[in-house]
Amino acid sequence: MNRLSRCIAIGALAISFATSAAADSGKSLFDRLGGLNALNAVVNELWTVVAADSRINARFVHTKPEVFGSQLLDFLCQASGGPCTYRGKDMRAAHTGMKLSAADFDALAEDTAKVLDKFSVPSVEKNEVLHLLGSLKGDVIGR
Ligand code: HEM
Repeated sequence: MNRLSRCIAIGALAISFATSAAADSGKSLFDRLGGLNALNAVVNELWTVVAADSRINARFVHTKPEVFGSQLLDFLCQASGGPCTYRGKDMRAAHTGMKLSAADFDALAEDTAKVLDKFSVPSVEKNEVLHLLGSLKGDVIGR
């Protein structure tokens, strides 16, 4: 490949990355995560990881995974811009009486990060999910 055609090829590649990044930036976090099936897989795996996490699993001894899983799915779907309607309690009301600590919250956030890594979610989307959870910390802990 001569120098000119190499320049053209690299330029074309750069434009195609820029275009796909631009197309992606208009999409909701929900779509960039891969939609409902992908989110459902994340929620199911999160349940498995949390159930094995001795730092917080005692909190969920009375929880029915299928009920909680579908509520969490609706919540995350709606919060990430997806086409779902969450009909559960708001985060403050849902966690009132639990006296959750910052350590409890951080354990759940860490488990979530682990699951997102397991599904190879890119760092931009992973950080957006973690920010979304982090923005709710004040509603969830100390209630
Ligand atoms: C931003 C982080 C969190 C989100 C988005 C979240 C989301 C939810 C949702 C959607 C519900 C169902 C609410 C309803 O019943 O209407 C719920 C309930 C619950 N959450 Fe959280 N939660 C968070 C943090 C935590 C943490 C850190 C813990 C404990 C380590 C926790 C423990 C629970 C428990 C035990 C329930 C009740 C489940 C049941 O029905 O048995 N949550 N949460």
